[in-house]
Amino acid sequence: MRGETKHYVPVSALIPARPTLSTLTRAASGCKGCDLYLKATQTVFGEGPAGARVMLVGEQPGDREDLAGKPFVGPAGRVLDEALTEAGIDRSDVYVTNVVKHFRWEGAARGKRRIHKKPRSWEIRACRPWLDAELAIVQPEVLVCLGASAAQALLGRNFSVTRQRGELVDSPLAPEVIATVHPSSILRAPDAETRRFEMTKFVDDLRKVAGVLASARRAA
Ligand code: URA
Repeated sequence: MRGETKHYVPVSALIPARPTLSTLTRAASGCKGCDLYLKATQTVFGEGPAGARVMLVGEQPGDREDLAGKPFVGPAGRVLDEALTEAGIDRSDVYVTNVVKHFRWEGAARGKRRIHKKPRSWEIRACRPWLDAELAIVQPEVLVCLGASAAQALLGRNFSVTRQRGELVDSPLAPEVIATVHPSSILRAPDAETRRFEMTKFVDDLRKVAGVLASARRAA
């Protein structure tokens, strides 16, 4: 905020020894790893069981998430929930989080609306230790990147969601890693027919995840 002195503390210094999801969440609530904490309402940490088989990673909390303090509870979250159900993925198998834990926004020219702004690369880098700690605890069988910001942050800057969505990719982050579109892109479809088409493709990508889970269960 205007007038407030910026005071960054590297995230690595905040991560507790032998963290659990609840101690991490508590530590992250005071995060000042970059300047996003100055304008956001609160940290929005990941949510879900420590034993989740799937980790879904989005970009950053949106307006609703910033106010609620929970990831994917706004319109994009509703699209995500509907697609997970259609793909046959149980929410109790899922941990949801973001590459950046604070809402980055700008005021609209008129009015009070807060306009989402993409996080910058140094903000993603500053926040990364939180995600690495979440991965180390949850150890998901499948990691799913939702949209280009998450995919490029986790799989490299040259990763193209348009070309590589729905493909299993090699990564040290989890046994199986896949990227798909961000659910908010479905909300931005120009008409109902395109929206239905994009939703079908999104569900198809998530069905691949469900297939991986089913074959891992059979092999166990
Ligand atoms: N978009 C995201 O990427 N994450 C959320 O939590 C909500 C919207």
